Amino acid sequence: MTGFVLKQGALYAEDIPLADVAARFGTPCYVYSLKLLREAFAAYRDALAGRDALVCYAVKANSNLAILNVFARMGAGLDIVSGGELARVMAAGGDAGKVVFSGVGKSRDEMRAALEAGIYCFNVESAAELERLNEVAGGVGKRAPIAFRVNPNVDPKTHPYISTGLKSSKFGVPYDQALALYRRARSLPHLEIHGIDCHIGSQLLDPAPAAEAAEKLLALVDALAAEGIVLQHIDIGGGKGITYRDEQAPDAADYLAPTLEVLAGRKEKLLLEPGRSLVGNAGLLLTRVEFLKHGEEKNFAVVDAAMNDLARPALYDAWHEIQPVVPRNLEPETYDIVGPVCESGDFLGHGRRLDLQEGDLLAVMSAGAYGMAMSSNYNTRPRAAEVIVDGTQAHLVRRRETVPELFGLETPLP
Ligand code: LLP
Repeated sequence: MTGFVLKQGALYAEDIPLADVAARFGTPCYVYSLKLLREAFAAYRDALAGRDALVCYAVKANSNLAILNVFARMGAGLDIVSGGELARVMAAGGDAGKVVFSGVGKSRDEMRAALEAGIYCFNVESAAELERLNEVAGGVGKRAPIAFRVNPNVDPKTHPYISTGLKSSKFGVPYDQALALYRRARSLPHLEIHGIDCHIGSQLLDPAPAAEAAEKLLALVDALAAEGIVLQHIDIGGGKGITYRDEQAPDAADYLAPTLEVLAGRKEKLLLEPGRSLVGNAGLLLTRVEFLKHGEEKNFAVVDAAMNDLARPALYDAWHEIQPVVPRNLEPETYDIVGPVCESGDFLGHGRRLDLQEGDLLAVMSAGAYGMAMSSNYNTRPRAAEVIVDGTQAHLVRRRETVPELFGLETPLP
């Protein structure tokens, strides 16, 4: 049994009917397949076999401790963007020595925590950050390992909100300033130059932009070597896309092939920071139909999951497949699948042809990445439970929040 499949007229997570998961843990509920998580990581590992490489899972895509632990046990490194993510990694049994720290706004406290944990590398995103990091490292008596996140100005051909490698983006340092910044870094006493990094965007379906970015990084690596600045690693970031609908998403091997060709014969260690492609298709959001509303112009299926659980449709107009857990398919009608939140933008899917009745379960597919991780408590809605299915076993890896927990940190005025 692989992943999420229809078996005997019902949708299963591995060997468990999703209806059983809903009965046991309630809805809305994120359900992940351990097998699919492991397969996704193994695809990268296999594509990189025989190379000195470290796959650093981008924690932001799904930061549940159990998921971090699954990848850490398989040998993954981790790409973090906050002190909070560092704490999660440590709590999940991750190895700080395999952590890279990205992000444009690292605070002094976050820098200190990462130095004390002994992370592998800071991906520095500005000249100002470089100076701050040098100062903080001096303060704790350490040398901070650094790479610059360089902006290679490559068009990743994806959604503008998730393109990060263009000149106009807030991320990384400008390509033309990179050499000068490395020279500056060399002159600072509490830094140790380690590598170079880029991340050009997310949900990339074409492997060419990543290879083009790698080529641009190599030109810098060689120019630096000529000045005696020798880098030990090249981090090409994350970004490989997945299939949500009918996109032709390359597998890890096909996606990496052109980049690996560009890097052939290079001695530098290769780092990657995939997020979505490790968890996206390995998770779904299980939800129940509360009401069917047959309006004058539209039909609505009001479900118990909402934009606070899965923000991607509302935020990016992202398309997620929505499948009935026990399909009927006799008299499909066209529905907008909407949540209970008080916003017109609160939808999970528009215009879906489904044969529904009140109480039916639906599975919102490919929700493993940037689903739970971007959830909120808007409308004072407790966040969903999270379950990992392993064959015939279902493990609750995050229990549903309770309502009192949602305002437990608040205090009325005296
Ligand atoms: N490395 C860095 C520095 C990043 O900023 C990101 C994602 C990744 C790696 C992982 O990229 P991935 O392999 O997942 O494409 N919330 C959006 C996606 C935002 C991506 C942010 N950065 C979405 O739901 O589509």
